Amino acid sequence: MRIIENDTFGAEVRDVDLARIDEHDFALVREAFVRQGAIFFRDQELDEAQHIAFARRWGAININRFFKAHPAHPEIALVVKEPWQQDNIGGGWHTDHSYDAVPALGSILVARELPPAGGDTVFASMYLAYDGLPENLKREIATLKAVHSARHVFGSYARAQVADSDFRSGDRIGNPAAADALAEVTHPVALVHPLSGKRAIYVNPGFTIGIEGWDEDASKQLLRELYAHSLAPEFAHEFKWKPGSIAFWDNRATWHLARNDYHGHRREMHRITIEGDRLVA
Ligand code: SIN
Repeated sequence: MRIIENDTFGAEVRDVDLARIDEHDFALVREAFVRQGAIFFRDQELDEAQHIAFARRWGAININRFFKAHPAHPEIALVVKEPWQQDNIGGGWHTDHSYDAVPALGSILVARELPPAGGDTVFASMYLAYDGLPENLKREIATLKAVHSARHVFGSYARAQVADSDFRSGDRIGNPAAADALAEVTHPVALVHPLSGKRAIYVNPGFTIGIEGWDEDASKQLLRELYAHSLAPEFAHEFKWKPGSIAFWDNRATWHLARNDYHGHRREMHRITIEGDRLVA
């Protein structure tokens, strides 16, 4: 097995079969995951049961409340775009499940059907983004908490805007009542990562709705500043999918965005999300 670091962050793990990985190699993969925040595999042939078994080695599986599930395996959330659909899932910068009181550790995404070109996923390292902040901004955010919510994305009001059309939404996202009922949660703006001990920015454009105790304008201004900073190309890595590819990202250390540049073609990905830990500043 070889672990090859990307130019910016993340690492590609080569010459390994995840269906049969032994404890020694698993420990090396785990170390790379903790250090890098995202790891990538090629030429894998995991079936659904093997995908689930690999995920369970990292922790308990979170059964997604909003995504359509695989018909035979509820642990697997379907991330699909049909040729006639316009919107993709995950097409804006976000980190999965920051709206939960105990946010997810990470997500393991397996490519099942890819368009002939495009449909790549871009990742941004929130470790690098934090390290690159000016010292005064690090000090300013050290004790701040941000408010996160799922309602504006998965709630009934948000879904009503798109649910009328298979062209936009279809039945890929559901259960808006669960999002409506989900209380807003707060997390540190800069967390200390539960596995690596490193600091990372933990606000994201998808699910962060403000800074605790701050008014809307001041919240927006700080979030805009943090987002503009975090999207610098030197903190990003674009993963080019091929048949047999798998990406595994740490939701506490990265953001991601799925490119929606393959209209007229089908893309099907299988995602398993793993439960995480309560976050501290
Ligand atoms: C996601 O946002 O979890 C999906 C990413 C992708 O489809 O590339």
